[in-house]
Amino acid sequence: MTQFEQWDIVTGVGLTALGVAAGRALDTERPDHLVSDPYAASFVAAADPPVPVPRRLADTARMPDVARDVWTSMAQYLGVRSRFFDRFLMTAAAGGVRQVVVPAAGLDARAFRLDWPPGTELFEIDQPRVLEFKDGVLDRLGARPRCARHPVRADLRGDWPTALRDAGFDPDRATAWLAEGLLPFLPADAERRFFDRIDRLSPPGSRLAAEHLAPSVRPLIEDPEFRAAARQLGVDIADLWHFAGKADPDRQLTAAGWAVRSVPTYEVATAYGRDLHGLMGRTAQHGRFLTAER
Ligand SMILES: C[S@@+](CC[C@H](N)C(=O)[O-])C[C@H]1O[C@@H](n2cnc3c(N)ncnc32)[C@H](O)[C@@H]1O
Repeated sequence: MTQFEQWDIVTGVGLTALGVAAGRALDTERPDHLVSDPYAASFVAAADPPVPVPRRLADTARMPDVARDVWTSMAQYLGVRSRFFDRFLMTAAAGGVRQVVVPAAGLDARAFRLDWPPGTELFEIDQPRVLEFKDGVLDRLGARPRCARHPVRADLRGDWPTALRDAGFDPDRATAWLAEGLLPFLPADAERRFFDRIDRLSPPGSRLAAEHLAPSVRPLIEDPEFRAAARQLGVDIADLWHFAGKADPDRQLTAAGWAVRSVPTYEVATAYGRDLHGLMGRTAQHGRFLTAER
């Protein structure tokens, strides 16, 4: 753990977890919401970020235009992304999968908000200080998970499989894996290793879902206007995301024997009746959601 730089919920990559929680909080309030996350606003309220992060739609109304546009686009996008992956997990559960792993779980509250069948074990991997913050807020709220939830404090560039097994993960059980809001943060070698390890820990019947951004997004995120808008999130995305030397995860998983499906993010949004605009809309033009079965 110590050989890697660490962060908390208000710095660097950690702050992106707070940003996506804010997106879920805002979408939850929309009459046409695609996600219903009653915990997201509490996470935002409990943090002390270096930039204003809204927890209610009313907060965005008081923001400068550029910030309001960024947060509106976050809410639009996070609704689509959350709905898609909620459905993936509930379909896996309906298909009999009882072990779930969420690497880079951040402030994902699915353990608390989805209707898990009895016997479900759910492992959330993230940095120690991110999970400490999350557990503190949930404890104060008296929130009860709706499955057996296991926080796993580990770095995804390091030996996370050992930490996962130590937390009770059973590599002989079919597992549903969810990599949402993660892949761009992993350098190429860490991403390749990440999928290799998932492959080794996944017996037949396992499933995987991932949000993927193509390297074609790079000129967009390096554009000065985009960078200025992205600063409303408190981080420079272009400094945090890695694309150099990345393999195509479809090919890597297919070569390892997984049946992979991939759908452009825009198609998912259209199917849900939602238009994507602004910062996240432009980013999503380079995105797709992968699902795979072993
Ligand atoms: C954009 S957030 C997404 C969080 C969550 N999946 C969600 O959608 O709400 C990115 C998360 O990835 C985690 N993360 C990124 N790189 C990581 C690493 N090397 N080890 C552990 N966690 C990592 C961050 O701490 C953060 O919580």
